[in-house]
Amino acid sequence: MKRPYVVVTRRIPQVGLDMLNEEALVRVWPEETPIPRKVMLSWAQGADGLLTLLTEPVDEALLEAIGPQLRVISNFAVGYDNVDVAACTRRGIPVGNTPGVLTETTADLAFALLMAAARRLLEADRFVRAGKWRTWMPLGFLGVDIHGSSVGIIGMGRIGYALARRCAGFDCRILYYNHHTHPQAEAIGAQYVDLDTLLTESDFVSIHAPLTLETERLIDEKALRKMKRTAVLINTARGKIVDSEALYRALRDGVIAYAALDVTDPEPLPVDHPLLMLDNIIVAPHIGSASVATRDRMALMAVRNLLAGLRGERLPACVNPEVYG
Ligand code: GLV
Repeated sequence: MKRPYVVVTRRIPQVGLDMLNEEALVRVWPEETPIPRKVMLSWAQGADGLLTLLTEPVDEALLEAIGPQLRVISNFAVGYDNVDVAACTRRGIPVGNTPGVLTETTADLAFALLMAAARRLLEADRFVRAGKWRTWMPLGFLGVDIHGSSVGIIGMGRIGYALARRCAGFDCRILYYNHHTHPQAEAIGAQYVDLDTLLTESDFVSIHAPLTLETERLIDEKALRKMKRTAVLINTARGKIVDSEALYRALRDGVIAYAALDVTDPEPLPVDHPLLMLDNIIVAPHIGSASVATRDRMALMAVRNLLAGLRGERLPACVNPEVYG
């Protein structure tokens, strides 16, 4: 039987590629930068399946160029805002993602960012490396306490809850804002509040919501002004949930104290971006799920979704199950 043809838009962990190579004819974009759109449109023509990253828009034009034989889109991420899911659904194409396997790893990073910002770790490291460390300083690098603080979690899904568990271990008061209440989070003491209450009462505000029309620029100038002047904003979700220009002004003018971002708008953040001129910010290059074990698990899950779609089976993790009627 003819092997299905699939395009993989970047090198993913080998364990996933090995599994895929057993069943499919695989073409992998070999560079470390995203596959150019023109190349994508040409390579994907006639493909039976596509394994994409969050850097690739999967839209009408691409689906049209691929052709009617396309059976599955598998996104190597839990978020899928890069995929026009409605367009896939209209064509009956299932879309897979990688929920669950990256939850704890991403929550680890959110908590690491929270701690690093609270205790100004990166500033302190730069200070030492610059040869400025002369003596013990009674007033040097004063940060804020994590234990006993109030942490506001926007989006109490899998990752939000995993962060809440970490915060509970630090005796934090946990506030959360979500579409619905989360009984497990409440069982560890988290309190459901409206967004205004969360913003005004939290020492740390951490974002764990998907990017949707509703959450795009949710944290704008008005929202930032509601936060405490001592507050820290953490974002490990999607950059566009925060208005970058408003955040720059808020950090520059002391409207809030600090930001720690793993995701930015734009992404990547150009090295001359105003945000990177500030000291009171930490920026990581979207590494929330970047542990060896987790990226292996994501690769296997993305490939299992892809193979299921190619075989005409239900995807183990499908974001548009309505395609199955
Ligand atoms: C990464 O951002 C993901 O959505 O998995």
